[in-house]
Amino acid sequence: MRLYRSHVLICGGTGCTSSRSNEIKQEMEKYITEFGLENEVQVVMTGCFGLCEAGPIVIVYPEGTFYSRVKVEDAKRIVEEHLLKGRIVKDLLYYEAITEVSDTVKAVNEVEFYAKQMRIALKNCGVIDPESIDEYIAVDGYKALAKVLTEMTPEQVIEEITKSRLRGRGGAGFPTGKKWAFAASYQANQKYVACNADEGDPGAFMDRSILEGTPHSVLEAMTIAGYAIGASKGYIYVRAEYPIAVKRLNIAIKQAREYGLLGENILGTGFNFDIEIRLGAGAFVCGEETALIESIEGKRGMPRVRPPFPAEKGIWGKPTLLNNVETYANIPAIINNGAEWFASIGTEDSKGTKVFALGGKIKNTGLVEVPMGTTLREVIYGIGGGCPNGKKFKAVQTGGPSGGCLPEKYLDTPISY
Ligand SMILES: Cc1cc2nc3c(=O)[nH]c(=O)nc-3n(C[C@H](O)[C@H](O)[C@H](O)COP(=O)(O)O)c2cc1C
Ligand code: FES
Repeated sequence: MRLYRSHVLICGGTGCTSSRSNEIKQEMEKYITEFGLENEVQVVMTGCFGLCEAGPIVIVYPEGTFYSRVKVEDAKRIVEEHLLKGRIVKDLLYYEAITEVSDTVKAVNEVEFYAKQMRIALKNCGVIDPESIDEYIAVDGYKALAKVLTEMTPEQVIEEITKSRLRGRGGAGFPTGKKWAFAASYQANQKYVACNADEGDPGAFMDRSILEGTPHSVLEAMTIAGYAIGASKGYIYVRAEYPIAVKRLNIAIKQAREYGLLGENILGTGFNFDIEIRLGAGAFVCGEETALIESIEGKRGMPRVRPPFPAEKGIWGKPTLLNNVETYANIPAIINNGAEWFASIGTEDSKGTKVFALGGKIKNTGLVEVPMGTTLREVIYGIGGGCPNGKKFKAVQTGGPSGGCLPEKYLDTPISY
């Protein structure tokens, strides 16, 4: 394994990719080779860093230098000035770019936008290369799966998830442990685990970013779920409009199979589980769980009458556990850190964190994750920077079209789920 003196992280989320971060990477690699730095500097394309407004973002470690609004033409300067000569390229620094007030804030850990957040579902997003299973394993990836398969019974796994008091992040907020217990309680020769990555709400990109930035977290969680309920097959239903997420998921599934983390006899424990992707064509209704199941079966996406619920009769009429992407992304952390740790975050009734996609008339459009109980004011003003151009706040729409439009008087209400 090679040790590098510098790591350059380039955002490969959809926002920065559409602002040409792929070309920035190619240019940087070209100049790194030209200046003979290829054995000293490693360039990594990550998932979304969160502060999409300031993209494309490039972060240079070990200093954590936070460059924003980087253009393809800036690649040479970063390589020559920073990586070769050790001089920060001042005019590309985040704060330099947006304000004259501070030229002291240079590193990512000093950026206020991040200081007020807590990352569980997004823990690895913007940190690792989502196309490298080795990088995921290096940050404790698949440790939870190994623990579950070698140290826990399915009942203990369900109990741990129940005790964490995690609720589904797909909208209805159903207690996840309870849903897993229902799915486990039905006997059948075949059961399924499904992941709802349809994310039809306009403006929402939480699930997409998780899949783009840390796809293995979702695969790991679904495999844990398969063990817990007794399923051997999983489906991820993801919309075709998310090509980067689909590409990285395909790479992640292939790598997990090669490493014996998907497929037959996982980690030599005798447990079999595999995952397939199903592409959605972008119908909002297909985000509803029973319409999604119809669509997975190749039929028109029309909701089924419930009951029976999917836990009893889901895909092909078999017991099916269906959770949202963000719900799954919390699972490895709960297994690794314990249910009590998770239940200590948030409020009395609402545990853990929530990821938000900030869009519209807000300064810091991007992706944030905050503990439950944080107020909307904190999210909109403390992290989001408030309305741009000194405009007065009128209302905020939460949760897409199925959510609500809230006026100012709700800004101090703690977020719950
Ligand atoms: C019209 C409609 C659209 C929905 N769209 C989504 C969606 O895009 N993603 C999602 O996870 N859940 C969506 N849901 C909720 C799902 O039916 C389901 O409750 C959820 O995926 C379950 O996962 P969870 O328990 O982890 O939240 C939608 C529900 C309705 C009624
Ligand atoms: S896509 Fe680059 S910061 Fe979000």
